[in-house]
Amino acid sequence: MPASKSPLSQIARRSLFRGMFSSVIFGLGPLVSLAAIARYLWPNAAKADEEWTAVGLPSDYQIGDVRFFAEQEVYVARYDDGFMALSQRCSHLRCKVPFNPDTERFECPCHGSIYDNRGVNLAGPAPRPLAVHKMRVRGGALEVRTDINSIEKREIFAPTQVYPYA
Ligand code: FES
Repeated sequence: MPASKSPLSQIARRSLFRGMFSSVIFGLGPLVSLAAIARYLWPNAAKADEEWTAVGLPSDYQIGDVRFFAEQEVYVARYDDGFMALSQRCSHLRCKVPFNPDTERFECPCHGSIYDNRGVNLAGPAPRPLAVHKMRVRGGALEVRTDINSIEKREIFAPTQVYPYA
């Protein structure tokens, strides 16, 4: 016949479990806080390189080329003074804007906004130019950063590595 549990041992066991539970909860709290602080101080440090997409060699582009990269929703355009990586998304209501090679303009099919070949809004309801994404050269190849945080001021990308191909 099994020995019956005394109320005293049940209370002791409950106290032990409560203590263990509290230790886990209060022990995890500081760890979670430390992880949040580290993430704030070093955001995306581990995957910084994953946000760049290779879009070919500078010498692959002729002046006047506008190449589309569907997955990244970005156009890479070559001008006589460098490159620009332009967002495909309209600055009005974010429709996908095709490039018209005949007019050399980006023409939004949704409400008729028109942008020049550098993405500057010329007509229609678009309140501002197409967003420009950051570019760099790595291992001789052009790369575009397409995450939302990379949208920055409208500058031509013309690194010294590119001029030999001009
Ligand atoms: S979404 Fe392009 S003009 Fe409205």
